[in-house]
Amino acid sequence: AAPVRVALLGAGTVGAAVAQRLMDRADLFAQRVGAPLELTGIAVRDLGRPRDLSGILPGLLTDDPESLVDQVDVVVEVMGGIQPARGLIERALRGGADVVTANKQLLAQHGSELEALAAGAGRRVEFEAAVVAAVPVMRTVRDALAGDEIRSISGIINGSTNYILDMVARQGMPFQEAVRQAGDLGYLEADPTEDLEGLDAAAKIVLLARAAWGVDVGLDDVQREGISGLTDADFESARGTGQVIKLIASAWRSGPASGSASDSAAGPVSGPRIEVAVRPTLVAADHPFGQTREGTNMVIIEAESAGSLRLSGAGAGGDETASAVLGDLINVARSRVAARD
Ligand code: NDP
Ligand code: HSE
Repeated sequence: AAPVRVALLGAGTVGAAVAQRLMDRADLFAQRVGAPLELTGIAVRDLGRPRDLSGILPGLLTDDPESLVDQVDVVVEVMGGIQPARGLIERALRGGADVVTANKQLLAQHGSELEALAAGAGRRVEFEAAVVAAVPVMRTVRDALAGDEIRSISGIINGSTNYILDMVARQGMPFQEAVRQAGDLGYLEADPTEDLEGLDAAAKIVLLARAAWGVDVGLDDVQREGISGLTDADFESARGTGQVIKLIASAWRSGPASGSASDSAAGPVSGPRIEVAVRPTLVAADHPFGQTREGTNMVIIEAESAGSLRLSGAGAGGDETASAVLGDLINVARSRVAARD
């Protein structure tokens, strides 16, 4: 079968892992898709930067992402930031490509426009990796629970701050040293204040709230506080009471369920009344959140019929995030191959 052509935008922590797996698992992916996935190019910002991309042809690297997106079936965007990522995704959709992205800030700020553009063009934008990396929480909320009514979603959904809080609380590591180590592990955003000030978690909880309730909630609706203002005294007083501090993101239905008569009176967002928050929270050390260590994430979903569901696993890291990116890529590629027949 003719290959499905794929452009990769970004070869950093996530992009390098995606490229590597596309090479290592080429035969397996061809079997699963029903056609080979052909990586036609990898866009980076700085061609001169030394990189460890063993087995990947250096000729695939380019600093001209625009020409790449014009010639493929699927664009995988893992460069991050708003521009040029937004313009490139729009260009890809207009040109007939599907898009897989891990870019939660872009989606939280412009996701509705991108999805409208994709729908108009008969194309898809998939982003499982943007929310808690390897843990399939978007699919759970959007697809698996489509026949249920979600009451609340809460969780530890930022891997770097969980790593930092865990290192400080359990190992007495100085805060700045823990931040440095989280960076070395590939957990931090290119701008670490997104993690430390709760902006990364805010973007993820916004995406989950939209998927759960179909509401037009945005970053400005999030009651947000990060972890950079925490002091040694805060950690000590938590320890003294058998608790730990965790950065908890939550979204909950505080008004009537969807479809009820009083929906139109809902607060800052349309649809059911939804509140969203990200803040450092004291939790009992033996609570599932208190037991969530290092870069691990955990999400608890409460739904009317399903009851309480708990998902946990790696919420950050190159290979872990690549797992979700590649899952989306294979699903999108399969649909394209099926549509050829
Ligand atoms: P990195 O900063 O490690 O990598 C970014 C890559 O994009 C680099 O290869 C960089 O090029 C390239 N790039 C950046 N700007 C441009 C540009 N203007 N033109 C061409 N190439 C560009 O980021 P990550 O891999 O950590 O993250 C990528 C995305 O994935 C982000 O949206 C992030 O939020 C998301 N994500 C990350 C996770 C993680 O654990 N790291 C987990 C889940 C999502 P160069 O190498 O030359 O600098
Ligand atoms: N910086 C993010 C985190 C990466 O620490 O969770 C994964 O989205």
